[in-house]
Amino acid sequence: MPDQDVEITIRPMDIDDLAPAYHLGEKLFTLSAFPNLYRIWDEYEIIDFFHDSSDYCFSAFADSKLVGFLLGTVIEKTKKRKYGYLVWTGVDSDFGRLGIASQLFDAFKELCVEEQVSMIIVDTQADNYTAIDFFTSKGFGDAQDHVYLTLDLRRDDDPRRPVREGE
Ligand SMILES: CC(C)(COP(=O)(O)OP(=O)(O)OC[C@H]1O[C@@H](n2cnc3c(N)ncnc32)[C@H](O)[C@@H]1OP(=O)(O)O)[C@@H](O)C(=O)NCCC(=O)NCCS
Repeated sequence: MPDQDVEITIRPMDIDDLAPAYHLGEKLFTLSAFPNLYRIWDEYEIIDFFHDSSDYCFSAFADSKLVGFLLGTVIEKTKKRKYGYLVWTGVDSDFGRLGIASQLFDAFKELCVEEQVSMIIVDTQADNYTAIDFFTSKGFGDAQDHVYLTLDLRRDDDPRRPVREGE
């Protein structure tokens, strides 16, 4: 258990944070029960976010250890409407329920307000109850169902299966 007096700091993500954030994400998103079906957590994901929208990426530290991060972006759908999209956020489970994800979210939200974003969107797996509780606690609602279908292209009898080298 972390010391309750541990000092938590939130700041914009820095290049030195990419490796520890990537490894934390590996623990949370690839080894956990909640992989995101349509986004894959790999090193390109965090590098792309940092490259394309670093203003909307934040890191959380407990003393000097990176214990959380948030990767977001802002999408301009039409000239009039901007949407904030919180794509990945995660906190080291040893530091859970200390308000760290809340502080990361507040930093992202504050920036969205400054940017005159009209709505923030998040998505998560339907059985990721922790994330749903977290987002609900931040005021999110109006959950929409979204159904993913899959077509397994490795099935031999599937006529659309691409022919692989050597076949
Ligand atoms: C979801 C997650 C980011 C929350 O991080 P956190 O730092 O523990 O969250 P906070 O301490 O800011 O919690 C704020 C509120 O969210 C809710 N909440 C957070 N964790 C919860 C849990 N395990 N069970 C129920 N509610 C929870 C509570 O309402 C909490 O307020 P409270 O502690 O005063 O009751 C973290 O559990 C996590 O990294 N999960 C795995 C990755 C993931 O699913 N990310 C989200 C999708 S990208």
